[in-house]
Amino acid sequence: MHTLVIVSHPHLAASRAHRRLHDAISGLSGVAVRHLEVLYPDGRIDAAAEQAAVLPATRIVFQFPFNWYSTPPMLKAWQDEVLAVGFAYGPGGTRMRGKQLQLVLTAGGARDSYRLGGHNQFEVVELLKPLLATAHFVGMSVLPPLVLYHVPNVPGIPVPADVDARIDAFARHYRDLLAAAPVSAAALQA
Ligand SMILES: Cc1cc2nc3c(=O)[nH]c(=O)nc-3n(C[C@H](O)[C@H](O)[C@H](O)COP(=O)(O)O)c2cc1C
Repeated sequence: MHTLVIVSHPHLAASRAHRRLHDAISGLSGVAVRHLEVLYPDGRIDAAAEQAAVLPATRIVFQFPFNWYSTPPMLKAWQDEVLAVGFAYGPGGTRMRGKQLQLVLTAGGARDSYRLGGHNQFEVVELLKPLLATAHFVGMSVLPPLVLYHVPNVPGIPVPADVDARIDAFARHYRDLLAAAPVSAAALQA
């Protein structure tokens, strides 16, 4: 296994985008997928099992819908539990070093709303800084985030007419990205 995908979506059954992203990458060779809300319906993460899943991966993907400019709560809990002292940082905490982090997220807001003066005021990459800082802290390198904008799935919010076509195109791109083995950290720096 070269890629571990941590999926966090509070209601995957009601999802329009993530269900299709999940389907697109399921069964890819070298890719393991763990959906936190399915694995842990009681919300209690098995840190040892998650750490064991992390160890063989060279690339770790966080796949999630933007929820109040952040990750859903289970993905935050995953970071709190799995990136523990002695594993990810502190004395002997070297196990995340050299791995790559790929963020794959969907947002209800349109791309143009994520700018100074726009409806969401900040660019997505600015809002992702806590995740990027966490990756840096534990010695991971960060790949450019993949963002699918303008896919609202909230009752009462209008759905853009082209949403299905855009989700399908994004899902194909995502699958192709994961099907390719991760580029080495040295090549990324070159
Ligand atoms: C609680 C909640 C918070 C949300 N926060 C944001 C947000 O901060 N920015 C944004 O663009 N969309 C936000 N959305 C919209 C979701 O990101 C969007 O519905 C989701 O990415 C669609 O994916 P899905 O079809 O897989 O559910 C939020 C939705 C919910 C339910």
